[in-house]
Amino acid sequence: MAPTAMIKSTELSFLLLLLAVFLFSQSEGAELKETNMTIYFQDRFAGPNTTTVPITGIPGHLWTFGSFGTVFGIDSPITQGLEGSSEQIARGQGVHVTSALDGSATYVSISIVFMNEEFSSSTLEIQGANYLYVNVRELAVVGGTGQFRYARGFATFETAFLDMKAAYAVIRCNITVEHY
Ligand SMILES: *[C@@H]1O[C@H](CO)[C@@H](O)[C@H](O)[C@H]1NC(C)=O
Ligand SMILES: *[C@@H]1O[C@H](CO)[C@@H](O)[C@H](O)[C@H]1NC(C)=O
Ligand SMILES: *[C@@H]1O[C@H](CO)[C@@H](O)[C@H](O)[C@H]1NC(C)=O
Repeated sequence: MAPTAMIKSTELSFLLLLLAVFLFSQSEGAELKETNMTIYFQDRFAGPNTTTVPITGIPGHLWTFGSFGTVFGIDSPITQGLEGSSEQIARGQGVHVTSALDGSATYVSISIVFMNEEFSSSTLEIQGANYLYVNVRELAVVGGTGQFRYARGFATFETAFLDMKAAYAVIRCNITVEHY
């Protein structure tokens, strides 16, 4: 009788330990964080440091943002501040495709690849419809890696500076993202 009771109590404490470990890891995993940030895309459409290049489009049509079906490759520096000379913290790498027949919107799929100390090697994935003539464009944050695993959220894009002659634009991007 006694040995059985002893085994039972060891089994019970083992089960309790398992339960405690399980609950602890659950509560750890459930710690949802929210991060807000404001960053600036430095976009150049011409010249020696071009960051946004048409890759392909409908034959016989101009390959511009306003021309349906045009695909652009992007690799823009992303800075902490508005000035081009301010600290570079990431790069915005991906594609835009003019997705509205009337040329009013592009479909965007870009990775924000962080290179600063705080988020080094982490990425955020931005995706959605980018209406070119809307002052504040809102796109989805659909995922992330590194410190942004399981990320979900949204990002607003607004043109903060535009020099048509220099083919240079600075886009302010505010990101609100939940992640673990
Ligand atoms: C982040 O910004 C949102 C609005 O976009 C705000 O509601 C929220 O309180 C902010 N969170 C933090 C942690 O600052
Ligand atoms: C292009 O980038 C190089 C290296 O950062 C810089 O020295 C040069 O001034 C830039 N040229 C233009 C036209 O922005
Ligand atoms: C983005 O954030 C800045 C402050 O960092 C604010 O001035 C600006 O109004 C915000 N833009 C949008 C569209 O929320």
